[in-house]
Amino acid sequence: MATKFFLLTLATTTTMIPPSQYMKIINPNDTIVGIFNTSAGSSSGVNVGNWVSDESPSSAFDDDINTKYLNYAAGDTSITSGLQSGFYVTPLIGRSIATGIQFATANDNFERDPITVTLEGSNNASAQLSLGASWKLIYSGSTGINASVDPGRMTYVAMQNFNNTLAYTSFRLLATSKRASSYGVQYSEVSIYNFV
Ligand SMILES: *[C@@H]1O[C@H](CO)[C@@H](O)[C@H](O)[C@H]1NC(C)=O
Ligand SMILES: *[C@@H]1O[C@H](CO)[C@@H](O)[C@H](O)[C@H]1NC(C)=O
Ligand SMILES: *[C@@H]1O[C@H](CO)[C@@H](O)[C@H](O)[C@H]1NC(C)=O
Ligand SMILES: *[C@@H]1O[C@H](CO)[C@@H](O)[C@H](O)[C@H]1NC(C)=O
Ligand SMILES: *[C@@H]1O[C@H](CO)[C@@H](O)[C@H](O)[C@H]1NC(C)=O
Repeated sequence: MATKFFLLTLATTTTMIPPSQYMKIINPNDTIVGIFNTSAGSSSGVNVGNWVSDESPSSAFDDDINTKYLNYAAGDTSITSGLQSGFYVTPLIGRSIATGIQFATANDNFERDPITVTLEGSNNASAQLSLGASWKLIYSGSTGINASVDPGRMTYVAMQNFNNTLAYTSFRLLATSKRASSYGVQYSEVSIYNFV
């Protein structure tokens, strides 16, 4: 609760933010669409869904490490189960330059940790966001979750930074690899940051 209050305070007192620090682009009120079976550059189309009912995409943005987003995609328990799932989001904050992402692990099943992801950006209208032609790759790489050592459950890992200079109104994040065989891919939090 203390962390949540601190972040809300920051967001509502922008004049108090000193230069050169990371600021969250996405917040719990943003519109989020959970998707599966989608690769960077490709269309998500009708591939919306496949999350556990009380483990929906918004749980990844609620600043609550006790809740998680679990997408099971095809529903098997293989090493690929849940890969190429994720979400797209249109932040209320508006057009932003993403330069970092930070994950927090879920409560259980370390096998389901995403190890690598893609992050894309779009300035297209919401009706076009299901189409691959609307997205440009910003980042493809580590989540910051170590593939060989479990950082612990419900744990924030190091922010991953990248040199992006292009501003976008929407962002799409997809898991491209995970730790081991299990049902789906899950994380308790993911934040997208810009550097102000
Ligand atoms: C989210 O929406 C609620 C209800 O409109 C509002 O009270 C709250 O301040 C909003 N939070 C953020 C972070 O925008
Ligand atoms: C994923 O999409 C491909 C076509 O792009 C389709 O052939 C395949 O059946 C889909 N898989 C699932 C699990 O929906
Ligand atoms: C999204 O906008 C870009 C740039 O204007 C354009 O090239 C692309 O075709 C648009 N996407 C769709 C699906 O219309
Ligand atoms: C993962 O952890 C091991 C053991 O601490 C370390 O040697 C390795 O460099 C780490 N890998 C990454 C990508 O941080
Ligand atoms: C960004 O670019 C600078 C200059 O090329 C480089 O020193 C730095 O390591 C890069 N940062 C990241 C996160 O790639």
